[in-house]
Amino acid sequence: MRVPLIAGNWKMNANLNEAIVLVQTMRRELDEIANIDKVLCPPFISLAAIRDLIKGSSIKLGAQNVYFEAKGAYTGEISPLMLADLCEYVIIGHSERRQYFNENDEIVNKKIMAALRTGLKPILCVGEKLEENEAGKTKEVVITQLKGSLAGITNISGLSVAYEPVWAIGTGKAATGEQANETIGFIRRTISKLYDEGISQDLRILYGGSVTADNVDEFVEKSEIDGALVGGASLKADQFISIVRQTSKIKQTR
Ligand code: PGA
Repeated sequence: MRVPLIAGNWKMNANLNEAIVLVQTMRRELDEIANIDKVLCPPFISLAAIRDLIKGSSIKLGAQNVYFEAKGAYTGEISPLMLADLCEYVIIGHSERRQYFNENDEIVNKKIMAALRTGLKPILCVGEKLEENEAGKTKEVVITQLKGSLAGITNISGLSVAYEPVWAIGTGKAATGEQANETIGFIRRTISKLYDEGISQDLRILYGGSVTADNVDEFVEKSEIDGALVGGASLKADQFISIVRQTSKIKQTR
C-alpha cells in the first residue's frame, strides 16, 4: 500500500518570521493526523529554523529546488549534500523552474540523479501547457518528460512524481478528478514499462494545480492519485490542515 503524501510548496512566499508563525500555527494539528506523509517546502532560508520547530513531530521538510553538483564555485546554488542535513524531500523540475529558469529534462535528470544519490526524496514534477493540452498532446509531453528526467536512473526508490498541468497551477482552474486520474494512470503505466510493474505500483504519484480544501476529495478519492502538491492553499494553515485531514480520511476508508 502506498502511503498518501501531501506536500505544501510555499514557492517564494513567507519571510523567516512568517514561516515560523505559519509552522507554529499548523504544527500540533498536522502532527496528529496519521497514516499520511505531510511535507512542508518553504524557501531555503527557512529550512533550518523549521527543521528545529518540527523536531520530534511527524511533519517532514522539503526544499523547492537543488543543484546537481556536490560543492564548488556555483554562486547562489544549494547542493544536495547541504539539503540532506536539513530536509528529506526536494521538489525537482517544477514548471516554474522550467518556465523562468530554463530548466529542461536534461538538467532535471541531473538533479534527480544527484538527489537520489544523496538520499533525498525527489518529487519530480511533470505536466503539459495549455496549448499542448488543447492540441491533445498531454500524454506525449508527460512521457517525454518522464523518459528525459529519469534517463539512466535504475533505482527510483524514494522518488515521487507530481502531475501538474501547467494551466492548472495558480489559476484556480484545477483539472477534474477524472482528467488527473487518467493522466496519472498513464504515468504509472509508463513507469511500469520503463522499470517494472512492482516499481510502478510502489511509486507515489500526486496531483498538483489549484488544489484546495474544497476540491481535494475529488482527486484523492481516485485510486491512482496518492496525494497532492499544494501551492497557494499551503500558505493558509486551516486550508492545508483540512487538505491533509481529508486526504488521510479518504485514503483510510478505501
Ligand atoms: P497551486 O500551485 O496549488 O497554487 O496551483 C501548485 C504548484 O505549483 O505546485
